[in-house]
Amino acid sequence: MSTLSQNNINSRPIGFFDSGVGGLSVYSKFRKALPNENTLYFGDLAHLPYGNKSFDELVGYARNILNFYKNLEVKAVVIACNTSSAQAYEIVKNEYDFKIYPIIQSCAKVISEMKLSKIGVFATLATVKSLAYTREIQKFNSKISVMEIACPDWVEIVEGGLLGSKISFKSVKKHLDEMMQFNPDKIILGCTHYPYLLGDLTKFYPKDKFIDPSGIFVDFIKSDLDLNKNDIIGYEKFFVSADAEKFVNNGKIFYEVKNLPEIINLG
Ligand code: DGL
Repeated sequence: MSTLSQNNINSRPIGFFDSGVGGLSVYSKFRKALPNENTLYFGDLAHLPYGNKSFDELVGYARNILNFYKNLEVKAVVIACNTSSAQAYEIVKNEYDFKIYPIIQSCAKVISEMKLSKIGVFATLATVKSLAYTREIQKFNSKISVMEIACPDWVEIVEGGLLGSKISFKSVKKHLDEMMQFNPDKIILGCTHYPYLLGDLTKFYPKDKFIDPSGIFVDFIKSDLDLNKNDIIGYEKFFVSADAEKFVNNGKIFYEVKNLPEIINLG
């Protein structure tokens, strides 16, 4: 392959996706770490929350978004969604000729090397059901005990603009009390929406009790990706399947989306 065509491939965009604003907790770190990359983001708000959807539905959503990105000639796709990584990734991973980065599988090795013996995981119902965190972490260290607890109302708290409310504190306390019976060394925020709740969670426990995998994830992608050699700031474009304004407003904690996303119906 000539240098010119390799450069062209490297300057192709990277597509991110999540059910909503959750993936922005990953995307914001990625833009900071790799500002020259061209990036796309798809928020599938029409199907929110992913956490209570069936396996077949989740595979269908992932395929629709991956096909959409295939048509846009991306060089890679980042699954900035634990639920989709847990349920759909293994099924779709060999169906495309670009790299696909799933959050859980990309972070498990680093987490397993943190010298922890008991790890708690807060995640969506679908992620917990899959036991993907337990399986992926124990692949690297079978001595680590993992306890996964579903927090089905947390995505609605973030997407419904309820952070810092009584409803949020009550729910956060309930799930923390349940988790503390296991007495974990650290708790993984195993849904990309959950770092939005850190302000509420840290009313009860210090920030270093929690692992937000987004930083580990971005480091992993950075070490693996064929980087864009251009030294100009990369372009970005946002798409949603519904609720463009809500997406911009609720996402502000992590990322300021300057133009209203384009609404795309992928079925
Ligand atoms: N933010 C996604 C995750 O990491 C999906 C949450 C949802 O829509 O239930 O699992």
